[in-house]
Amino acid sequence: MDDMMARIITAVLPGGHLVEAFPILDFLPDVVAKWRREAKEDFRRFTAKFEQLYFRIKNNHASSSLCANLVDNETHHGMSDIESAWVAGALYGAGQETSTSTLQWFLYSMLLFPETQTRAQEELDRVVGRSRPPSFPDIKHLPYIQALVKEVLRWKPPAPLGIPHAVTEDDYYDGYFIPKGSVIFANVLSLNRDPEIYGPDAAQFRPDRHLNEKGFLKNANDDGHFTFGFGHRQCVGRHFADNFLSIAFATILWAIRIEPITDAFGNVILPDTTEGSEMAKNLVM
Ligand code: HEM
Repeated sequence: MDDMMARIITAVLPGGHLVEAFPILDFLPDVVAKWRREAKEDFRRFTAKFEQLYFRIKNNHASSSLCANLVDNETHHGMSDIESAWVAGALYGAGQETSTSTLQWFLYSMLLFPETQTRAQEELDRVVGRSRPPSFPDIKHLPYIQALVKEVLRWKPPAPLGIPHAVTEDDYYDGYFIPKGSVIFANVLSLNRDPEIYGPDAAQFRPDRHLNEKGFLKNANDDGHFTFGFGHRQCVGRHFADNFLSIAFATILWAIRIEPITDAFGNVILPDTTEGSEMAKNLVM
């Protein structure tokens, strides 16, 4: 999965392939179109892997999983085995990398902003206590944890340029002509940091911005960021992701205090997130 995600992330970056700027190159045969040969080979490789995993469920009649569900409803949905295998693989791919990198940014932000960690832990002590770990029914009583989830997703969106889309017909926007087929990137990071929306401190990490003066979420139905995309193709896993991140943040902060390591002189050493660093390689930036 890591391999596939690394491949997809490189492929969707603007300017990843020359053919994007010169579509005429797409008429070249495979023998000279290295990018297409590689894409086909990767498709074959990932399909083989997904099918192997899918057939393990299909042939063993395992119960209670997405794949089992796809197998049981084969006649209803009418998808081929390859399609079903890709549904499962794509869902896992869409959710795994995005959630993992958000979790990493959360840990990093707790190192950078210890006061927010203290606030979250005070809330956990007050609402959950020390005798048991947090559980899902607690989440609605933990507005600061929910604000933390929103703020990490706003501050460091795993897909800062969203997922590329193509316009299906000629269009005009703000005086610009956008021909049919143009690839459009939504600048999610810039929207998430827009001072007109979030105020002059938009670039700062401040979970409080999602709370009202009583400490409750200003609007529980508003994401508070554009990280899950827009409209018709907005992330279908967003509620799953919100739930997962809320319970993960709450459980981690309930169990431990996150602190940076120090050198021999007591100076704090923060993880290196500059380009090319180990951490940067693990984050979808
Ligand atoms: C922090 C976690 C996540 C982030 C930031 C995220 C972000 C996104 C974004 C930006 C899109 C594209 C939206 C657009 O085209 O405008 C998307 C689509 C999608 N996401 Fe997520 N996602 C997350 C978690 C998940 C999870 C956990 C799942 C599955 C369980 C998932 C499944 C999908 C699927 C299937 C799509 C395609 C939807 C479509 O094209 O109709 N995502 N996600």
